[in-house]
Amino acid sequence: MADRFEAPKGTFDYLPPEAGVRAAVERQMLTEMGLAGYELVETPVFEDTGLFARGVGTSTDVVQKEMYTFTDRGGRSLTLRPELTAGVVRALIEHGRIASGITKVAYTGPQFRYERPQAGRQRQFHQVGIEAVGSDAPALDADVVLVGHEIFRRLGVEATLLLTSLGDAECRPAYRARLLEFLRGLGGDLPAEARARAEQNPLRVLDMKDPLVQELTADAPLMRDALCPACRAHDEAVRGLLADAGLKWVEAPRLVRGLDYYVRTTFEWQAAELAAAQNALGGGGRYDGLSELVGGPPAPGVGWALGLDRVVLALAQAGRLPADPHRLDALVIPLAGAADAAAFTLVRDLRRAGLVADLPYAGRTLKGHMKAAARAGARAVVIIGDAELAAGEAGVRDMQAREQRTVPLAGAVGAVGAVARRRPPGADPSGPPDLT
Ligand code: HAM
Repeated sequence: MADRFEAPKGTFDYLPPEAGVRAAVERQMLTEMGLAGYELVETPVFEDTGLFARGVGTSTDVVQKEMYTFTDRGGRSLTLRPELTAGVVRALIEHGRIASGITKVAYTGPQFRYERPQAGRQRQFHQVGIEAVGSDAPALDADVVLVGHEIFRRLGVEATLLLTSLGDAECRPAYRARLLEFLRGLGGDLPAEARARAEQNPLRVLDMKDPLVQELTADAPLMRDALCPACRAHDEAVRGLLADAGLKWVEAPRLVRGLDYYVRTTFEWQAAELAAAQNALGGGGRYDGLSELVGGPPAPGVGWALGLDRVVLALAQAGRLPADPHRLDALVIPLAGAADAAAFTLVRDLRRAGLVADLPYAGRTLKGHMKAAARAGARAVVIIGDAELAAGEAGVRDMQAREQRTVPLAGAVGAVGAVARRRPPGADPSGPPDLT
């Protein structure tokens, strides 16, 4: 038996400062989603296995090969969520939110897929997403895409939008049959894996990366050319709005995506910085039949999810990660045992004033304390020794300017605030609040 443990394969521990930087990226995403009226929801990390089998689709890799499924002590088959759209739609149905016009929700949280781990592909990964349910208006598709676009703009990520339409129950079955006929016509030339896929879900042969498959299917019929008039009109309306808002995209008639619920507008954002197999920063589309598939009333919907891990990776590779939000405004040092209580109270008051303050929790010489404060990046050091305590004062040192002055203990909060706000040009703008 192992005498120490490691994080399970395909999972990561995020420690400071990375965890703080990830949270800063997530906050920027949530801010942008909030500006467009998407409100947070939270659903369970595990759901009935049947929800994913029906919602995501039994022919998908996600359901066939990648789910973490287990039986609980009550004999129920449960699955760690591989994605959140099915769970969110289930929750909206269960709580009667479907019938009441358009519902715009946002979420953030871990997902689980048993995939082969590599850079940008994990078994536990984090998605931030939005879903807009209750309307089939093309303006809603455009809104959803625009929110993603604005997130990438805010973060400074270069993401290419790939866009297509997957048709609907009206036009896709006939197209699917034609495509299957085409693929069967290739006979034994088509590799065995592609032949097997063709029988399960012929559209998924089109997005296979195998160069031979790509070459053989170069002339395959495309859904784009087989859209029914309603799907075509929807597609054109979405594109018109996106173009009006100045968005650019790449036509992706072979984009299929790995989940079965999509109809009509379907899209993905890809990053130039990441390796081809993991370059999808996020993706989504319309899922007008999903509610009925999982037992709800008709409720057209559209949404996307971004992979936070991949977005952070792309930002790191482009050298554009936000600054570590951690800061230490003041280290308060009681130099004599009698000063402990005054230091502890001052730390409380500094924190109440919105300043980041801490104690050393260790006995050191003054020189040792100053070294530790410099290592911790403290902007100010407050020194309370015997003499200061007797006089009701504190020494407040500006670590950068290397200046120290003595102030009344009651004025220490204001003095630390003044030091903490004085920052070198170009420093992290997330500073302490102005206390004046
Ligand atoms: P998805 O394309 O399966 O869509 O996942 C969305 C994003 O999650 C991917 O583009 C990728 O950035 C990230 N992702 C997926 N798998 C992994 C992994 N193993 N490791 C790291 N990142 C990963 C969905 O999940 C849909 N529910 C999106 C949606 C919402 N469609 C409509 N509404």
